[in-house]
Amino acid sequence: MVILGAGPAGLVLGNVLLAHGIDCVILERATRAHVQSRARAGFLAANTVRVLDRHGLGEGLHRRGQAHGTCEFRTEGCRFRLDYGSLGRGEQHTVYPQQELVTDLLTRYLDAGGQVRFETEAVAVREADGARPRVEVREPDGRPARWQARYVAGCDGRHGAARRSLPAGAVRRHHRDPGISWLGLLIEAPPSMDAVGYAVHERGFAGHMARTPEVTRYYLQCGRGEAADTWSEERIWDELALRMRAGEHGALRRGPVVQRAVVDLESDVLEPLRHGSLFLVGDAAGLLSPSAAKGANLAVLEAELLAVALVDALAHGDPRGLDGYSARCLPFIWRAQEFSHWMIQLLHGSPGETSFQQALRCARIESLRTSRTHQDWFAEHYVGV
Ligand code: APR
Repeated sequence: MVILGAGPAGLVLGNVLLAHGIDCVILERATRAHVQSRARAGFLAANTVRVLDRHGLGEGLHRRGQAHGTCEFRTEGCRFRLDYGSLGRGEQHTVYPQQELVTDLLTRYLDAGGQVRFETEAVAVREADGARPRVEVREPDGRPARWQARYVAGCDGRHGAARRSLPAGAVRRHHRDPGISWLGLLIEAPPSMDAVGYAVHERGFAGHMARTPEVTRYYLQCGRGEAADTWSEERIWDELALRMRAGEHGALRRGPVVQRAVVDLESDVLEPLRHGSLFLVGDAAGLLSPSAAKGANLAVLEAELLAVALVDALAHGDPRGLDGYSARCLPFIWRAQEFSHWMIQLLHGSPGETSFQQALRCARIESLRTSRTHQDWFAEHYVGV
């Protein structure tokens, strides 16, 4: 079994396969240090924690993760909190930075004797429609090499070799781009409040998400095509304070901006998530906008489903799970997409928004503030995968 990519998807898959005695190798383009320090998502859904626990992979997150169950909305003239941890199904998030989860998963995999080839870039997957697919790679010294296996799992993200290798017409790509971009910021400062913050403002959305007691993620809606380095620290703090209405609701805790990147809120889903012996998992299978923090959670869920199906096929000769993999995953993916897009519509005025659409958005937020039924629905989808 060859797995492309050592992100959350590839590492969960590798760990579960290894625990069942399936021989596998993970090919990873980046260095080990890079993989372990890449700060990305951080909110793990209750179901993700259950999946990780089922395979003995949750020890670190139980030790160092923080339970989290509150979000706060700020709009013109109104601020309200939803204790989503006691609404809906009563489930909370565990805040655990992705680089720590990845480090746990990688350490566990290597300790169990798993093989990872770092700095080995998959260039293409060939003959995926046959029973011996081949992965062509570039070795750390730049030389070409190849790996062959019964199956290949594409866990190498949106720009990876798995997607690139799909022949035209083999899968369908459903794509949506609402034309909205965020400037994502990692700031070395404690969180400014004990909730996820969503600020809806005429100048654009601003968001606040705790990562650790020392590091906080902020988001600022920005113009499409705007470069992250055109934002000075002064402008960043001015906009954050203005949009989060710090004057009314309390000052933000400042610190140096240690990472910044512009993210376009684009989404897509590939269908089916398989081409012959090549399976797609995580971002390679579909891209979720970060508006509802679902990407890493879906990646873990899909990796478990594929791992179980691969164990059935490779250890017990039963391919039914593999045949049903795509159909099992797609309903979860579409539900997550639906909620992410609902969040996008709630939090942003679309470019060219009319006064009618703006009033609808206010009405939606007001319903969320006042309707217990709406709040339960929100909580169930916000934490659920
Ligand atoms: N060859 C080998 N490795 C590759 C290649 C390639 N051609 N291209 C990308 N990779 C590696 C990347 O370096 C990365 O380590 O694949 C890995 C993909 O990891 P992620 O991007 O984290 O994707 P995934 O595991 O699907 O996790 C999905 O986690 O970070 C969150 O929200 C984010 O939705 C995302 C989710």
